[in-house]
Amino acid sequence: MQIEWKTPGGNAPRVCLDMLKQPHLLIAGSTGSGKSVLINTLVYTALYKAPHRIKFILIDPKRVELIDYKPLPHTIMYASEPDEIVTALNLAVSTMELRYKDMQHLHIKKSTESEIYVIVDEFADLMTTQKRDTMPAIIRLAQLGRAANIHLILATQRPTKDIITGQIKVNMDSRVALRCPTAQDSRNIINVKGAETLPRYGYGYYLTPNGCELINIPMTAPEELAARVEWWTSQSPTQTTQHNITAWKQNSPLTRLSWITRLWR
Ligand SMILES: Nc1ncnc2c1ncn2[C@@H]1O[C@H](COP(=O)(O)OP(=O)(O)O)[C@@H](O)[C@H]1O
Ligand SMILES: [Mg+2]
Repeated sequence: MQIEWKTPGGNAPRVCLDMLKQPHLLIAGSTGSGKSVLINTLVYTALYKAPHRIKFILIDPKRVELIDYKPLPHTIMYASEPDEIVTALNLAVSTMELRYKDMQHLHIKKSTESEIYVIVDEFADLMTTQKRDTMPAIIRLAQLGRAANIHLILATQRPTKDIITGQIKVNMDSRVALRCPTAQDSRNIINVKGAETLPRYGYGYYLTPNGCELINIPMTAPEELAARVEWWTSQSPTQTTQHNITAWKQNSPLTRLSWITRLWR
């Protein structure tokens, strides 16, 4: 298979694989700074590196950003409507709790089950319209997800303090600042100024507990991505579990639990 990385050049390291190894990731930058491009590359890298160990829960308040990944057999739930988004986040939390119970039972500290990436493209939308319904789940996933192999990837175009709150910051210590309007925005994301001087797209500052570095963001060619998704979709034995969502909502809590149990093995 051919991979084509289109980048604006330069010598900064490409660290997508490293980003996937972090417990969670926050991506912030202005519109057009390449947040969706980075998410695409992360999805692509995950599909490429560990296709049998990954699953996605996709939360897409803008409805057009993550829709391409809906048919993937890896996608457990794609949510764009407000009530679906709440359901999807609750599903992630219930799965996490179930995994903790298993871990307790087996006396292990780290789950051996698949890696679930909960991807939110346009986190600011959730914060402004559904904060009360979604924030407790997001914070719980950020606090406890790691050991259960549940990882959050949040992207936002509004790097302001009301979106990237203190609570988000303490729980998400890996962050990427793409180009943003002001030095204050840069500080809100990576604690230092600088992201306001980045080129329009293609570069970012990547903050981890080890420090902050300038990185080059590769863009996966859209045709390559589409081909990969199509191939995986054709491998899928059944259509995605999406059609189960309605059933999930109608079921009793107990049936729901057994449903997730079946789903996650
Ligand atoms: N790393 C990159 N390399 C090359 N082009 C890029 C890169 N990031 C962004 N672009 C260009 O900018 C456009 C907008 O990027 P996008 O990811 O949709 O921005 P955002 O999601 O932040 O609004 C892309 O369609 C692409 O043409
Ligand atoms: Mg986008």
